[in-house]
Amino acid sequence: MKRIETFQEYQTVYAESINHPNQFWAEIANSFVWKKKWDTVLSGTFEDANSRWFDGAELNITENMLDRHLAENGDQIALLWEPNDPTVASKSFTYKALHEEVCIVAEMLRTLGVKKGDRICIYMSMVPELVLSVLACARIGAIHSVIFAGFSAKSIADRINDAEADFVITMDGGLRGNKTIPLKSVVDEALLHTRKIKKSLVFNYLHLPIDKNERDTDWNALKNEVVASNHYFKPGETILSEDALFILYTSGSTGKPKGVVHSTAGYMVWTAYTFLNVFQYKKGEIYFCTADCGWITGHSYLIYGPLLNGATTLMFEGIPTFPNAGRFWDIIDKHKVSIFYTAPTAIRSLMSAGDEWLAGKDLTSLRVLGSVGEPINEEAWNWYNEKIGKEKCPIVDTFWQTETGGIMISSLAGVTPSKPVYATLPLPGVLPVILDDKGNEITENDLTGNLCFKQPWPSMIRTTYADHERCILNYFSTYKNYYFTGDGAFRDENGLFRLTGRVDDVLNVSGHRIGTAEVENAINHTPGVIESAVVGYPHDIKGQGIYAFVICDPNHHLQDQEQLYAITKMVSQQIGAIAKPDKIILVNGLPKTRSGKIMRRILRKIAEGEFDAIGDTTTLLDPSVVQEIIAKAKK
Ligand code: WT7
Repeated sequence: MKRIETFQEYQTVYAESINHPNQFWAEIANSFVWKKKWDTVLSGTFEDANSRWFDGAELNITENMLDRHLAENGDQIALLWEPNDPTVASKSFTYKALHEEVCIVAEMLRTLGVKKGDRICIYMSMVPELVLSVLACARIGAIHSVIFAGFSAKSIADRINDAEADFVITMDGGLRGNKTIPLKSVVDEALLHTRKIKKSLVFNYLHLPIDKNERDTDWNALKNEVVASNHYFKPGETILSEDALFILYTSGSTGKPKGVVHSTAGYMVWTAYTFLNVFQYKKGEIYFCTADCGWITGHSYLIYGPLLNGATTLMFEGIPTFPNAGRFWDIIDKHKVSIFYTAPTAIRSLMSAGDEWLAGKDLTSLRVLGSVGEPINEEAWNWYNEKIGKEKCPIVDTFWQTETGGIMISSLAGVTPSKPVYATLPLPGVLPVILDDKGNEITENDLTGNLCFKQPWPSMIRTTYADHERCILNYFSTYKNYYFTGDGAFRDENGLFRLTGRVDDVLNVSGHRIGTAEVENAINHTPGVIESAVVGYPHDIKGQGIYAFVICDPNHHLQDQEQLYAITKMVSQQIGAIAKPDKIILVNGLPKTRSGKIMRRILRKIAEGEFDAIGDTTTLLDPSVVQEIIAKAKK
């Protein structure tokens, strides 16, 4: 695969990709290893979410990530693991070693009876065994569904049931800063409320006491057996291009997270191509993506994209502030990281910790900086550029989504123009448009509208698991013939895109997507709660905070403080700690129209503290509730 190296080349390549997509993608796909080549590059219909890429081809993605690199790159480090505790030694796996480990775990899964097409839920913290599990699934064609280790038992149960998963991989517990997080016991609780799981594979990491169930198999014991058999070096299973590679759940504007399904070949081509071009990765460089593998960034740009390119990917077990706010900078210094990819919320939190944490840290190995997950604000962008990049490292602000599989709008580091707080230009193959509310394309500059994509791209969402209608409804129905992102954007006079935030009822809290309806559902489970409304408000570190307005039953006699505690606890149980409201106020009424619709616009203004900008309330059933809410919010 050839890297784009000049702006002029980008322009030529981009034009080609739009005018002759089949030819363009065929050429890129030719640099991978296929068991059988495709019949058609792009087929199917875009508007009903039935685009197919490289149809008729057969491959195994892990052979492209591992086996393919063995001859030339076998002794290079593929995965570098930095532990939570800086006094513990880091670990590394060469391509050869990673290949062997993945073959072993793949054989372990076969021994358990896992078959191609089975869904496997993975609930693990950031240890190498998580990566091995993901790749072992891909090796044998099992569909992985990784669940972020911060999600609750209820969330796990919902995801296992929705995905009809038969297998679980988990571990006794994980480390995050100074906390030990129980994982196995959370899974055990989840499994009380799911369909029957056939087997669960448990990695004993911390030697915590665990309840052993009949379904449990000990990772280390099974591994010893497989290794002793000395019969595990096997080729990857033959997978069809459009076979599902994984499911990843993400929040939307309804109460129920959707299982976004990605296919194999298109996802492979896209993550590999975008990784190489956006970060301008050069052989031998150390690349550090701080995302957790429980999110799409961890899938596409910690695991798949880098390994497809034969890169060295650094995986960090811990958190940015443990043992102190200099941890990332220590890691960059220690491992001589060249490319660093993180989220604005982390940048803001480290910026607010103070520049003293940068003292004495050698960051000169850095060449490229990346940002992902939410719009980056100017202050954070400048700090990142000056203090981390020393004004020498291009910053790529990469816009994409779980559903897009990989980066869609971003500059190519040092190659295409960059502009603070702008994601800038579409990647080759991406045709973004901005639509007004009526669905007309906005061609004027600087006018904000709804960001859509007009053409299929290889790693686009294939379906929402077991509910294709929902996929069409969510992404392809708002505007006929367009994929709708749910984001607002505008374009400057040079055609550079700037993202302005979600335009639907989805919040972005510390770079995590959370649906307001999902939080409301959780709150409404609390005894004594009658109704609730949740909105986002600007938060200095998190980007957006969660603000909940809750009506309680006056006959449910709880002290306010106890009620608030019960609500917070319920949200943690139903979703996970990441969805806990930052502010909750107990109110007697919500601003509703005569038809009963909650006027969120008003609640958003109150949450933002813009009490004088509430606007017209005359259409409300009872305008006086607004004054009551404002009085409570001011307290
Ligand atoms: C939503 C997708 C993409 C991986 C991490 C999040 C927001 C993401 C940017 C960016 C402005 C961004 C959007 C998008 N977003 N990157 N560079 N600039 N906004 O994946 O959980 O699927 O969330 O994150 O609102 O729709 P996700």
